[in-house]
Amino acid sequence: MSLNDANNFGAIKVQEFISEVFPEHSGRDWSDLTEIAKLTALRQEKNGQFYISNFWRGPMLYSLVRAIKPRRILELGTGRGYGAFCMAKAMEDGGIDGKLFTVDRTPSNKAYDWAYVDASGENTIENISLDQFWKRHLPESLNARIEFKQGDTAASHELLSNEKEAVDLVFIDSDHTYNGVTLDFFSTHSIAASNAVFVFDDYSAARGYGIRKLINEELSDFYSLKVIDMELTEAHDIAVDHMMAVCNVEATEVNAEFTSPSDLRFKYLLARRWLRRQAISLVRLLRRR
Ligand SMILES: C[S@@+](CC[C@H](N)C(=O)[O-])C[C@H]1O[C@@H](n2cnc3c(N)ncnc32)[C@H](O)[C@@H]1O
Repeated sequence: MSLNDANNFGAIKVQEFISEVFPEHSGRDWSDLTEIAKLTALRQEKNGQFYISNFWRGPMLYSLVRAIKPRRILELGTGRGYGAFCMAKAMEDGGIDGKLFTVDRTPSNKAYDWAYVDASGENTIENISLDQFWKRHLPESLNARIEFKQGDTAASHELLSNEKEAVDLVFIDSDHTYNGVTLDFFSTHSIAASNAVFVFDDYSAARGYGIRKLINEELSDFYSLKVIDMELTEAHDIAVDHMMAVCNVEATEVNAEFTSPSDLRFKYLLARRWLRRQAISLVRLLRRR
């Protein structure tokens, strides 16, 4: 299938998706996830205004975890941990005996400017590392379920090579280029259970985003697909058409063969990604002159 229009797959609103997969949520005001968002998803615009970035991915991921009860979750692209802590909270609330691995290239002991709402309700920015922030501000019981791994998300199969259990839920939210997300998918597919569920952020038609192409052209023949409209009510975020996509939401057995990390195509995609990065660095260098 070569469709490049999300409407062909009928995007549904995020609240509708939540009601479908986790009907028990009714009555929840998501205040617990709002507290996590205030710590891990606050951003500052150039004009100084603070805002929570894409809040609904938290309830959406939480609901999915409550519904499918994964024992092993793998997140590609940790950021500051909003997705990871929402999923860990779902495991805790749902009594799921599980563990979450999250991979990012930024070392967890590297300090950078972190925007968050402090204990007195003030928006603040602190120069702090992920290790320090998580330990200081987020519950120990949730920290205990999360294992951070530093590295390239395209090498997730190597980073988790010592793990005995296959991954049941993968959240891909790292490199949004076609080469990058395709490598991420092949890497994680090689260590995933045959009934694994794959969630993709940034299913966008924006220039430079390759998630839609990968899913529409290579995955939708094998997996059921739910496209989710994240309902960004404020014009803060990167793309007006901000969407997420879930492949195999029913967690059924899918015995599809995809490129594995030992195949030539994987190495070819790695080489293309490397060349693209070199070209971008060169253009930046020339522009600075
Ligand atoms: C949008 S953020 C992730 C947000 C997070 N999933 C959440 O829900 O809060 C994307 C992250 O991907 C990381 N990233 C991008 N490309 C990467 C790569 N090839 N390998 C490792 N990390 C990467 C960036 O460092 C960044 O922290």
